[in-house]
Amino acid sequence: MSLIFLIGMPGSGKTSLARLWARSYNWQVLDMDAIIEQRHGRIPALFEAKGETYFRELEQQLLQEIITARAPKTLVATGGGTPCFFDNLNLMKDAGCVVYLKASMMELRARLAGSTNIRPLLAGEDQQERIRKLLEQREPIYSRAHHTYPALSLTEATFVEIIDACTNRRS
Ligand code: S3P
Repeated sequence: MSLIFLIGMPGSGKTSLARLWARSYNWQVLDMDAIIEQRHGRIPALFEAKGETYFRELEQQLLQEIITARAPKTLVATGGGTPCFFDNLNLMKDAGCVVYLKASMMELRARLAGSTNIRPLLAGEDQQERIRKLLEQREPIYSRAHHTYPALSLTEATFVEIIDACTNRRS
């Protein structure tokens, strides 16, 4: 299995872990948010100018593109909402191995403090309540991943475990 999708809430560390692991183990990293930003500008501005639905369409097109390309040894850092729209989760599960980086409400609150300016869905008043609602809505979706790991206690050794788990699932 050479296509691994990292899913999870904003702040769960998908992007930073993907970058760290890929460097160490020589995998390619595709950061979906970064690719969308390279092509279409900053995500908060995109939400503001074109709305969330437009962003979700771009996100799904990009996912299709990544799946079609089938590049070997590729780690995809998805956006927090990617598995929650359209049939994206099933697309990812059919094309590769889906790994949920799970973090608790308390952990996310600490990690997200001060970063709402880059995350339009968490901007504004009541950040805590927004995180709680998103987590409550999304947890049942995220938990359909092939594998779940605790986001905040991951080490590089976990990546080897993930590769093993994903490889044993389907070779
Ligand atoms: C979103 C999370 C963001 C980004 C966009 C929407 C979400 O990615 O895709 O702002 O719906 O949770 P991160 O999870 O990398 O912050």
